[in-house]
Amino acid sequence: MKAIVCNSYGPTSQLQIKEVEMPSPKPNEVLIKVHFSAINDYDWSMVTGIPGLYRLLFGLFKPKRPIPGMELSGVVTSCGEAVTLLKAGDEVYGDISYYGFGTFAEYIAINEKAVVKKPEFLSFEDAAALSHAGNLAWQGLVDLGKIENNMDVLINGAGGGVGSIGLQIAKTYNCHVTGVDTGEKLKNMLEMGFDHIIDYKKEDFTKSNKTYDLILDAKTTRAPKAYIKVLNPKGRYVTVGGNIGRLIQILPARKLFKKPVFMVGLDANKDLEKIHDLYKSGKIKPVVDGPYPLEKTPWAIQHFGEGKHTGKIVISI
Ligand SMILES: NC(=O)c1ccc[n+]([C@@H]2O[C@H](COP(=O)([O-])OP(=O)(O)OC[C@H]3O[C@@H](n4cnc5c(N)ncnc54)[C@H](OP(=O)(O)O)[C@@H]3O)[C@@H](O)[C@H]2O)c1
Repeated sequence: MKAIVCNSYGPTSQLQIKEVEMPSPKPNEVLIKVHFSAINDYDWSMVTGIPGLYRLLFGLFKPKRPIPGMELSGVVTSCGEAVTLLKAGDEVYGDISYYGFGTFAEYIAINEKAVVKKPEFLSFEDAAALSHAGNLAWQGLVDLGKIENNMDVLINGAGGGVGSIGLQIAKTYNCHVTGVDTGEKLKNMLEMGFDHIIDYKKEDFTKSNKTYDLILDAKTTRAPKAYIKVLNPKGRYVTVGGNIGRLIQILPARKLFKKPVFMVGLDANKDLEKIHDLYKSGKIKPVVDGPYPLEKTPWAIQHFGEGKHTGKIVISI
């Protein structure tokens, strides 16, 4: 089968599309024919080895698993003998990162619990774009953010996967949503439905007098105190990711300032039922950049790393 192979950390140009051995499922695994995958932050880190801390997860000197990719939609083609939840022919999708990586390939063998059944009304292309960003946005806005109707919400790093789905979730609560990002994406963000946009290269929203009921942050670059300053008295700040040095300040800041500042610890695929309901009723639809063919994956990961994408970059396998 064909796969994108990464044998050492470095530039995306060292990625190769290769013929590799077909995987065979262990007793609790299913073999999935992958239809679509999507690009995520983990792929950039697994290929480049940056930030270095991630090497504890992906391999100290080189990637432990040579095929990157952590989101998929596809069809189960065979099952290990201990599999009970799925059968051959099932259409599935999900964020598989709890169980492994390797979705930039024609087939993957993975624990049956890594994926969920794809409802018929959800296209394979949209499914590949929904699981990771959809769960991060849901768990950030709903579980930790306690979003309510008519709130004033700000999404920082709003032009990417979490921002584009986060906006649509916030709109189901009739919120006024400000998006912070830069460049070409700002125009796209207005088209997506953000009520107000801020170019972070021109304006620092943490230094403005405008305050918010809820901030969802995909890029955390400042100390928690800066975000707390622009929260309304009952406002909440929730980060899904960003600068590691800043992220480790979140818990101490909650204790020190006694303010509701949180970080999402992603529970992969947990909220897909709720996402299905919103998708079925037409309230959310992933913003897809692509789909691009498998051989363009190195370019697509570079495009992602340079922040040139809007929404989710999807790869057609
Ligand atoms: N909490 C968890 O358990 C968990 C698990 C996995 C991943 N994550 C994290 O979740 C996040 C996923 O977000 P995503 O997929 O939406 O990322 P994304 O698609 O890369 O979007 C982030 C956007 O932020 C913009 N940006 C960069 N610097 C910025 C700044 N200083 N201020 C405002 N915007 C800025 C980027 O554009 P430019 O680059 O063009 O500036 C990009 O458009 C990542 O931070 C990832 O590490 C969290």
